[in-house]
Amino acid sequence: MPNLHNRKLYWLTLPLVLLLFSLPSAWYHRDRLRYNYFASPTTSTLPTRRLFHLLPANKAGAGAFFCKALMSSLVHGYSPIILNWEAQGDSSYMQRLKVAGVYEFLNSLPSGNDDDVVFMMDAWDVWLQFPPQTLLERYAEYGSDVVIGADMLCWPNEADEPACRDVPESPVPENAYGDSLSCDAECMAHGGLLSTRPRWANSGTIIGTVKSMKSVYKDLTEQLSEWAYTDQGIFNEFLHQGRIKLDYYSRLFWANAHNADAGVIINARYPVSTTDTVVPYHLLPPLLYHSGTGEYPVAIHFNARFHKNLMNDWWGRLWWTQPEFRSIWQERLDRGTVHFAHNGTTFQWKDFCDLSELA
Ligand SMILES: *[C@@H]1O[C@H](CO)[C@@H](O)[C@H](O)[C@H]1NC(C)=O
Repeated sequence: MPNLHNRKLYWLTLPLVLLLFSLPSAWYHRDRLRYNYFASPTTSTLPTRRLFHLLPANKAGAGAFFCKALMSSLVHGYSPIILNWEAQGDSSYMQRLKVAGVYEFLNSLPSGNDDDVVFMMDAWDVWLQFPPQTLLERYAEYGSDVVIGADMLCWPNEADEPACRDVPESPVPENAYGDSLSCDAECMAHGGLLSTRPRWANSGTIIGTVKSMKSVYKDLTEQLSEWAYTDQGIFNEFLHQGRIKLDYYSRLFWANAHNADAGVIINARYPVSTTDTVVPYHLLPPLLYHSGTGEYPVAIHFNARFHKNLMNDWWGRLWWTQPEFRSIWQERLDRGTVHFAHNGTTFQWKDFCDLSELA
């Protein structure tokens, strides 16, 4: 039972939350049928599934980090869709709007799209390094469920909650990451529940069929209006309930906050997937390899604030940021299109970003 204080908070915030949820539906209404044309190309060897790549980013918060994330999407052939561009508010407002925006997007899709795939990632600290084909191919290994990035820290739930304590153990071998992990201040503040092998949810990267995402986001939306948690706390509960799957091996998503050392940039000699015709393997492209699990993650998530230095360190080291590969990625960057969900228009990377300002 919520205590009196929580109840008060609930009734105080309810009108605000209701207002919040009424906003995006208005924005999306106009464009209801146009998402058909927004999907990223898919490969013919898989069941025909369209991929909707969602990036929640508001204009006020967008900058060099957003431009880098967007660039990683475009050079690999995605057709990203920007949610919440015109929204304004503090980070907790934007956090809630991130959920509302995805949910409204799902509801705006015409019926019959149930098997298409929606992939949402945070718009400023995630870089992609493989094309949509590889993402879909690997996602297919999980069936049609919702799959979320794995985190080594149980956050923001309390350490003694079932959502922290009683989620499954990781199937990754016990010594895969070594034993160098130590509980930092953030970890201590939350009762010290940190595992060397990720076993909790990270809500910055998520993928699922339209059908499975609708079901998860419906409940997420309802619970987010009642709880003080961010979406990540609720995802940990969903994980505990067996409603979502975790990408334990970082084959799809790698959140590197507590294990950046596991990342090694190496020159890949062979394609990681037979359907990948996008990464120029014949030129030995430098790719991020996860030495703990032996995977090349599709998405690299720099999810610790203090690791933004790491983004700066790694910028320029992956193939799609290197001058020797420029003729390949520049052409894709120039050709790529980005869609605004709020008014259905299309723009190009260079309309909002400038390569010479990314260092
Ligand atoms: C769509 O939104 C973008 C960003 O807010 C704006 O620059 C553009 O002019 C809008 N286009 C139309 C047709 O409303």
